[in-house]
Amino acid sequence: MSADGRPTGTGAVLEVRDLSVALRTSHGIRRAVNGISFSIGQGEILGIAGESGSGKTLTALSLLGLLPLGARTSGSVRFEGRELLGLRRRQLREVRGKQVALVSQDPATSLHPLLRIDVQMTEHVRAHLGFSKEKARERAIEMLTAVRIPDPESALYAHPHQFSGGMRQRIAIAMALACEPRLLVADEPTTALDVTVQAGILRLLDRLRRERGVSVMIITHDLGVLSSISDRICILYGGRVAEYGVTPEVLGAPRHPYTEGLMRSLPSSSASGAAMVPIQGSPPSLDAMPDGCTFHPRCEWARESCRTVVPTLRTVDGGRRLACDVDPLAAAVAGPAPVGRS
Ligand SMILES: Nc1ncnc2c1ncn2[C@@H]1O[C@H](COP(=O)(O)OP(=O)(O)O)[C@@H](O)[C@H]1O
Ligand SMILES: [Mg+2]
Repeated sequence: MSADGRPTGTGAVLEVRDLSVALRTSHGIRRAVNGISFSIGQGEILGIAGESGSGKTLTALSLLGLLPLGARTSGSVRFEGRELLGLRRRQLREVRGKQVALVSQDPATSLHPLLRIDVQMTEHVRAHLGFSKEKARERAIEMLTAVRIPDPESALYAHPHQFSGGMRQRIAIAMALACEPRLLVADEPTTALDVTVQAGILRLLDRLRRERGVSVMIITHDLGVLSSISDRICILYGGRVAEYGVTPEVLGAPRHPYTEGLMRSLPSSSASGAAMVPIQGSPPSLDAMPDGCTFHPRCEWARESCRTVVPTLRTVDGGRRLACDVDPLAAAVAGPAPVGRS
């Protein structure tokens, strides 16, 4: 096993090491992403989760070279062995769309409202793969079929507004896949959709990785979304990794109080008898990041040291990584239930 619990020999498609992103805010320069590391193997789905403002989107954008102007990155982002941080715009454009594709929360940002689907899809494919018009059209139909758009040939002649939100998101995914990217980064791809449509999109991503070997990074604030499809999960809080490991382990027996809080606040947890309990307070803003463990003001287990000491991300049983020095839930994982809370 590698340090992050992934079996060695699979060859990570994406290897992110100690990635930080600093932004200029009205209060000065602030680190919005702070030394995070993770990797994604071929055909693997990695879930990135955390409440709003935890740094998920900035992490995704830094992989694609799409950070806001003036943002500074450090660390390493290796895609199939090639360092992406520091690449020139032209080189990044090549990587983007062709090898790493982004699907965002709102299909409106991926699809131009005034252009027919065929124009959008074939121009994209021709620009990136140098296909002829005819070949690009065939590819577009193939991808629309793959994402199960009914009657793909007629769909090509329609405009985005003629489709429902779920269908538009499928088309955005088809467009992202048309250049056969090795990695699909999906930033809250189902947030704007109702539950049934959401389930369909998730099944689609799962099928694409199985049938086409695409690696997927799926970002969401909803752990319920990840429990069924992600292989591993990375929980972010305040721009840092709180907990990272194999999905059934992390969600089945959370060790970080933040992960546990997110699980307890899931509506589905009430189905198993437990009451739904939201985490008290709200996530910190960049300009008021607490010292020590950034989660301590909201943590019912916090000790004095948590106010001043930033917990290091350490490897615990089974290769899981944890950034909590108190580790109050370890006993729950190891066996007997914890003796009550302090
Ligand atoms: N362009 C920007 N300028 C200043 N602050 C930003 C900018 N983009 C994001 N932030 C801040 O960085 C933090 C992380 O943002 P983001 O990655 O979008 O979080 P998430 O996607 O997890 O909701 C937030 O506190 C957000 O307010
Ligand atoms: Mg976001």
